[in-house]
Amino acid sequence: MENITQKEIVIEFFEKNPKRDIQHSEVADWVAAEYQNRTGDVFSDPRAQVRKLHQAGILIKVGAGIYKYDPDLVGFESKLGFANKQEYFRDKNVVLYHGDVLDHRLFKKQFIDLIVTSPPYNVGIDYNSNDDELSYHQYLEFSEKWMTNCYKWSNTQARFLLNIPLDKNKGGNRSVGSDLTKISQDVGWKYHSTIVWNEGNISRRTAWGSWMKASAPFVIAPVELIVVLYKDEWKKTNGSKISDITRAEFMEYTNGLWAFNGESKKRIGHPAPFPKELPYRAIKLFSYQDDVVFDPFTGSGTTLIVAANTKRRAVGLDIDESYCGLARDRIMGEIDALL
Ligand SMILES: C[S@@+](CC[C@H](N)C(=O)[O-])C[C@H]1O[C@@H](n2cnc3c(N)ncnc32)[C@H](O)[C@@H]1O
Repeated sequence: MENITQKEIVIEFFEKNPKRDIQHSEVADWVAAEYQNRTGDVFSDPRAQVRKLHQAGILIKVGAGIYKYDPDLVGFESKLGFANKQEYFRDKNVVLYHGDVLDHRLFKKQFIDLIVTSPPYNVGIDYNSNDDELSYHQYLEFSEKWMTNCYKWSNTQARFLLNIPLDKNKGGNRSVGSDLTKISQDVGWKYHSTIVWNEGNISRRTAWGSWMKASAPFVIAPVELIVVLYKDEWKKTNGSKISDITRAEFMEYTNGLWAFNGESKKRIGHPAPFPKELPYRAIKLFSYQDDVVFDPFTGSGTTLIVAANTKRRAVGLDIDESYCGLARDRIMGEIDALL
C-alpha cells in the first residue's frame, strides 16, 4: 500500500487536469476511488480538501463548486511546496536547500524553468564536502546522475545552461566539454547550441610542455563552455512572457562568443565562483520574469542573487553547509530588488 496523503492525491488529480474547469463531483469521485485503491483507506471529505487548496492559493475558484488548476499562475509557495526537504534559507523569492543533487527524492515534482549552473570540474579543487578528484569514469557517472535528476525536476519547456570546461589536462587529457554534452543528451536533454566564454583573466599559462620543441608541447584554450540545452520544446510559450532584455544586450548575448572576466575566489570566499555576468546573461536571454531559476550547485549563491535581482524566483542547492551559509549571507547583502 502506498504512503500518500489526501492532500497529495487531490493535487495529483488537478495536476493531471491542468487549466480545466472541474466540478466538485469529478474530483471527488476520482480521488475517493484512487485513495481507496492505493492506501486501502476511505477519503472522508474530498470537498474540504479542495477548499483548503483553494485557500492556499493552489486552486482557482471558477464558480460554485468549480475549480481550476493553472500551473502558470500558482504562487511560488505552492510551486515549491513539494520539496521533500527542510529549507536551509528562504527570503521572499529565494529558497536555498542544503542537500545532495544526487538524491532523486529531493523534489517531488517539476518546478524548474531555467537551470544555470557550474558543477564541480573534478580538477582537485578543495571544496569542503565533495571529492573533486574522482576517476574520470566516476565523474562521468556522477554527471549522468545529477543531470538525470535535474531533467526530472524540470518543466517541459525548461532550459539548461551548463557551464563546464572545454577540456582538462590535469591527471590525463580529457574532452570534458564534449563528453558532458553527450551525457546530457543521453539522459534526455536536447541540444541547442554552445556558447564559448573567453575568460579574460584566467591565469593557467604556466605549463608549456616541451618549450619550443615539437616533442610534447601543451595547448591550452583559456575558455569555458556554456552548453545550452532544453527539455522538450525550444519555443517557450509558458510563463509571464515578460522579457526585460535590452536591444544592446540581446545583440551581444546572442553572439555565442562571450568575453568577460572570471570572479575572484578570494573576494567571494569560495574556491570556484563564477561572475554575476554569467547568470545575468543566461537569465536575461533565456527566461521571463517570475520564472523559476535553479542552481543545483549554488556555491556562493551567484545565480540566486542575479535571479532575485532580475525579478525571477530562485531555488538553490549545495551539499556543503558552510557554502550554504556563505550564499545566505551574500543573498541577504546583495539582493536589492526582491519582489
Ligand atoms: C563550481 S562550484 C559552484 C560555484 C557557484 N557557481 C558560485 O558562483 O559560487 C560547485 C559547488 O557544488 C557543490 N557540490 C558539489 N557536489 C555537490 C552535490 N552532490 N550536490 C550539491 N552540491 C554539490 C560544491 O560544494 C560547490 O559549492
